[in-house]
Amino acid sequence: MAKNRFFNRNVVSIRDFDRDDFSYLFDVTDKIQTLKSKERGEIAKGLILGYIFYEYSTRTRLSFESAMSSIGGRSLGISDVDSSSIMKGESYADTIKTISLYSDVVLIRHPSDGSSRYACEISQKPVINGGSGSEEHPTQAMLDIYTIFKEKKKIDGLSIGIVGDLKYGRTVYSLIYALSNYNVDIHLVSPAVLRIRSESIYDISHKVNMQQHLELSDDLLQKLDIIYVTRIQRERFPDLQEYKKIQGLYTIDENILKKSKPNVSILHPLPRVDEISPSIDNTVNALYFKQAAYGKELRAALLSILLHENPF
Ligand code: NCD
Repeated sequence: MAKNRFFNRNVVSIRDFDRDDFSYLFDVTDKIQTLKSKERGEIAKGLILGYIFYEYSTRTRLSFESAMSSIGGRSLGISDVDSSSIMKGESYADTIKTISLYSDVVLIRHPSDGSSRYACEISQKPVINGGSGSEEHPTQAMLDIYTIFKEKKKIDGLSIGIVGDLKYGRTVYSLIYALSNYNVDIHLVSPAVLRIRSESIYDISHKVNMQQHLELSDDLLQKLDIIYVTRIQRERFPDLQEYKKIQGLYTIDENILKKSKPNVSILHPLPRVDEISPSIDNTVNALYFKQAAYGKELRAALLSILLHENPF
């Protein structure tokens, strides 16, 4: 296996990682799933994942906890800031410093862009960005491209549609940055008001083919190997009336599948609201729960290589 370049590193932006890093991480993720639970349970023995979530979470927090426990470590943290000293007026900096005193790696979700980068200056332990505002969610992108790789056996050469809230969806940015390391066609589908923030992707637009669309047209559906669907980020909308106008605009259902390539894969970082009809959940195309399951394995691999130079 290649040299571990993840050891002791912060995972703040997916832009800090390249194609070689991803293939190493994929190899470790494959390897960790072959270990016997006793061997796997030795990797992080005595080590602690500390976390704080200033925003709601289901999968990110639980998959990290489950991942840490599967490699023998423990997790402690704050998932409800109302129950912490933040309510007494404690600063973000002091909170992060405190968590880093009690743990070996620190996972943070916060509504502000830049919150994780700032935390790196304070934390004495490696920081993992579990979602920073509408900026990035790097570990989600790692598991998204791992899912694509596992299912399609390749990433190069694929046509990937990214649909929904491209303006506020942080998973979208991390995913596009990750995909810019590969030779793919990206089709961005959103209403005009939710178009990608062009200043955020300015520097990668020369690296990857990207086209913008207002509609998920029949022609486009015929091209796509992957449809990555996102939730409209209601909580980041300045005006709820605007949200209501676009709610339910691109629902993926049987009708869409009929018009798509037979082997199209539907991905979603979840949670979904009404963007994917539950009636397609049992089709071979629906990969979103498998994707969530890969999240645990990939995060177990990631924690292992952040915490140990030679985890195996
Ligand atoms: C996403 C997030 O928090 O950015 N959820 C996740 O971590 N899987 C997506 C979302 O909230 O829409």
